[in-house]
Amino acid sequence: ESKYGFTRDQLFEGYRICRDKGIKRFGIHIFVASNELDPNYFVETADILFKVIVDISRALNIRFEFANLSGGIGIPYRPEQDPIDLPAMSRGIKEKYDQIIVGRGFAPLKIFTECGRYITGPYGYLVSKVLHIKDTYKQFAGLDACMANLMRPALYGAYHHITVLGKEKRPHDFVYDVTGSLCENNDKFAIDRMLPKLTPGDTVVIHDAGAHGFAMGFNYNGKLRSAELLLREDGSVVPIRRAETVKDYFATLDFNGLKRFKI
Ligand SMILES: Cc1ncc(COP(=O)(O)O)c(C=O)c1O
Repeated sequence: ESKYGFTRDQLFEGYRICRDKGIKRFGIHIFVASNELDPNYFVETADILFKVIVDISRALNIRFEFANLSGGIGIPYRPEQDPIDLPAMSRGIKEKYDQIIVGRGFAPLKIFTECGRYITGPYGYLVSKVLHIKDTYKQFAGLDACMANLMRPALYGAYHHITVLGKEKRPHDFVYDVTGSLCENNDKFAIDRMLPKLTPGDTVVIHDAGAHGFAMGFNYNGKLRSAELLLREDGSVVPIRRAETVKDYFATLDFNGLKRFKI
């Protein structure tokens, strides 16, 4: 069902067309996983890709300079999850490289990766305030943030861990839907989440927002992107991006067009 990439037959055909047009330098790229925590998955992916490289190289008499294993390395969004064992992944890929690429005479082959989430995800936090508590048939905690700041929970029901500043050690014996401020019912950061008792003004920290947070942000409903602050190892805080303003929101409108209309 993937919308990416080529079939195996198309790969052979594509490289053949390139070779026949005089292309001399070749590389190949694969992207098969997203947020994967099992190192074997990446080892198997390398196995598939290295074998394809050997098959195409032999069939078309070309040489590959690089294989890009792409990103997809996952992060433990849930506290009970373990981080991926990167050394095990690296050892496994190296074994495949030695067996398939070196063993069959196709070295050297540069190996690239292009990890996104693994590098930025755990190091960003969405910091928000509780605006109000709504008590109907369940408890809703409404935040001043919304899915325009972090879309993953609304988009794919993704789990993001939440802590409440100063209440980390209190019993988590209240169940809340933690909601954003957009007029979309799926604008929720968490559904039925056990948290300490919340009150308006509490600071709610949503974890692992360093990937697919700000970058996936949007302006629907006039929502303005928030500021970004860098917390340094020495505890100092450096503003690295100011918050958007209403002026920014209208900055791309071309009011000159209005002159064409007679009011
Ligand atoms: C082609 C390609 N490379 C790399 C990445 C980064 O993936 P990740 O952030 O899961 O490491 C993506 C993500 O969509 C991608 O489409």
